[in-house]
Amino acid sequence: MARITSFEQYQSEYKKSVENPEAFWEEIANEFSWKKKWDKVLDWNFEKPEINWFIGGKLNITENCLDRHLEKRADQVAFHFEPNDPNENSRAITYRQLYEDVCRFANVLKSKGIKKGDRVCLYMPMIPELAIAVLACARIGAIHSVVFAGFSATSLGGRIQDMHCCAVVTTDGAYRGAKPIPIKAVVDDALDVCPSVENVIVYKRTGEEIKMIDGRDTWWQDEMKKVSAECPAEIMDSEDTLFILYTSGSTGQPKGVVHTCGGYMVYTKYTFENVFQYNDKEVFWCTADIGWITGHSYIVYGPLLAGATSVMFEGVPTFPDAGRFWQVIDKYKVNIFYTAPTAIRALQASGLDFVNLYKLNSLRILGTVGEPINEEAWEWYHKNIGKGNCPIVDTWWQTETGGILISPIAGITKTKPGFATLPLPGVQPVLVDEKGNVIEGNNVEGNLCIKFPWPSIIRTTYGNHERCRTTYFTTYENLYFTGDGCRRDEDGYYRITGRVDDVMNVSGHRIGTAEVESAINMHFDIVESAVVGYPHDIKGQGIYAYVISTKEHDDIEMLKKEILAEVTKIIGPIAKPDKIQVVRGLPKTRSGKIMRRILRKIAEGEISNLGDTSTLLDPSVVDEIVKGRV
Ligand code: WTA
Repeated sequence: MARITSFEQYQSEYKKSVENPEAFWEEIANEFSWKKKWDKVLDWNFEKPEINWFIGGKLNITENCLDRHLEKRADQVAFHFEPNDPNENSRAITYRQLYEDVCRFANVLKSKGIKKGDRVCLYMPMIPELAIAVLACARIGAIHSVVFAGFSATSLGGRIQDMHCCAVVTTDGAYRGAKPIPIKAVVDDALDVCPSVENVIVYKRTGEEIKMIDGRDTWWQDEMKKVSAECPAEIMDSEDTLFILYTSGSTGQPKGVVHTCGGYMVYTKYTFENVFQYNDKEVFWCTADIGWITGHSYIVYGPLLAGATSVMFEGVPTFPDAGRFWQVIDKYKVNIFYTAPTAIRALQASGLDFVNLYKLNSLRILGTVGEPINEEAWEWYHKNIGKGNCPIVDTWWQTETGGILISPIAGITKTKPGFATLPLPGVQPVLVDEKGNVIEGNNVEGNLCIKFPWPSIIRTTYGNHERCRTTYFTTYENLYFTGDGCRRDEDGYYRITGRVDDVMNVSGHRIGTAEVESAINMHFDIVESAVVGYPHDIKGQGIYAYVISTKEHDDIEMLKKEILAEVTKIIGPIAKPDKIQVVRGLPKTRSGKIMRRILRKIAEGEISNLGDTSTLLDPSVVDEIVKGRV
């Protein structure tokens, strides 16, 4: 396979991928097992948008993740499961066991009448059964949609309704950190407004008391005993939907990003093997949650397609103490470790004592994802975790891109702290100015777009294609717009500077300002609010909310608590504002538009340079807001 082994080879592969993308991807696609090969590699139109890869090809991604490995890797571990509690036994799941469990659960789904094209929502903690459920859906052609188990009942219900799911797979509870968390109770609340759901399958994880509804709810463990460990794979078209994953944007509620079978399969394996330079028998650990795209592509699909051994971790980096990551790395002799800058910064703040207890000598490659990494955190990671000799891959990508687009190739691309460096083969980035003019040359900055499709590009937003078109393909003509700002330095290296739209990145989680505002506005006393991100030492960005209340509150702290509770109820704890300021008015233009630029500056503490405020309807509100900063 076109495994890149030198920088010269990267350059020649890149050249080939731009000059003849179809031939380039065809060669890579040929290494998979297909039920039928494609008639044509690619058809695309960014205006509509309509993008089709490996047209006419037939496959099932799980045959490539599982069946194909049974000959050589049946007894190789696919997942080492490390539970939240270090004293609980870990589990090693081989490729054969995974294959059998996936087939069994696929049969369970079938026994409930679930079939190709049906949407199944998975609301589960980080246990192997989540990966099993994902793959079981793919096995029978049902569309999986994992919802991160930190989202509230309201969020979960909204997504289930949007997709008209017929079933939910969940657990009784979850272990994350010191105390168990209810999971099934959240599902029950969500389902009050979701009549389409006929089946809820519950994996018993914590054993806590839960309500089971007759005729709707069944236990995973019971159902698995009733079915066979063989399940033929449904034949899928390359462009059949594999999954839907919700993500936040500038406006409105989160949208369901749609990925399809063929292109996603080809791209996740290719990027996994190349970016991380995975070698046979190595142990890979991605600390993301499967509820996010990173978990889909680099815990489940990429590693399994490549026949890799991975660690899957249920807990949090700070439980029972801030040495947990390092302890787990030593325990499984992890060779490749992939985490988020926010975790690195939090562990850096906990001090080196936790690091120094462990050897960390199995590590060969380190990775980061999800947000810009500051130079200090990069250096700390490199020096203290990688002991100065592990290359760091700073991987830039998005839910919509399906896989990594801009990143060093480990050990091959020369790195620079803070830089995602160079595009992977097949990826053609361009920087544009506000008007959409392409900015050529180096040492420039602009909005990051991609001008040619790669196999795992977003196909549509579920149930609303127009939204996909206007969000990503109309800002700049004939380009996919990422929403990120970016610098290209004198060496042609890319550095992502952060979102240029109204999306915040809080601890690596994407949260729309509009979503948080609409949650805050649900509070009875709040008439209006404006939310912006501001720099935060650990989280990357914190959430700053300006709110206008209908009445005078003697107890502002109480009001703030209620607002936090409201946001937790509507979205989930990850979207709770870090700072709330009660204001009399918001800076608005005469046409009524909130001047977020000013609010951002105030939140950042840059109050000496607020720019021109003379066009505001009521410039005096700005002084008041500055005085009342929290
Ligand atoms: C940001 C996560 C800087 C970026 C895979 C992007 C990054 C958003 C990086 C997507 C990185 C992701 N450097 N910023 N290496 N990786 N981002 O959809 O703003 O959860 O648009 O996908 O995270 O977040 P998402």
